[in-house]
Amino acid sequence: MKKIISFLSLSIFALFALSPFSLNAEPERKIETTVHDFMEDYPKLAMKAAKKGKPGYIEKILAEIPNFALEEQRAKWTEISQEALKSKDYEQSCKSCHKEFKKEYKKTYRKRPIQVSPELISYLKELKK
Ligand code: HEC
Repeated sequence: MKKIISFLSLSIFALFALSPFSLNAEPERKIETTVHDFMEDYPKLAMKAAKKGKPGYIEKILAEIPNFALEEQRAKWTEISQEALKSKDYEQSCKSCHKEFKKEYKKTYRKRPIQVSPELISYLKELKK
């Protein structure tokens, strides 16, 4: 009986470990970064592109930024980003959000990880070409 049980648990283990549906094989692997690193890499270049008539990058960034917010700040980050998307005064969003949130975020949450979709990153990498 003991043997049967240990065989069974081994099989169940193998089934999970080898199965393509196991937790190890998420369909979309997110890229982990921080707000700081994301900010250093993309919004400035995206603003430059917008000034040259390509607002697609900054619009995409502004649509995504609220997903990087702390839960309790998400509503405000959404409001700031949506406002800039509506008015097309993208730069206003940098100022508003930084004025209200940057100092505290930097001090307390600098190392807090955020998850970004690989599609967004590969799209934004075009800015560096
Ligand atoms: C809704 C919020 C929000 C918006 C909109 C936003 N940022 Fe930020 N940004 C932050 C936060 C929070 C930090 C601080 C991150 C840290 O240091 O941990 C930051 C930091 C930065 C930094 C890092 C350097 C520094 O000053 O500390 C740069 C560069 C930056 N942002 C550029 C931009 C630009 C350009 C825009 C507008 C196109 C923008 N950001 C819009 C929230 C925002």
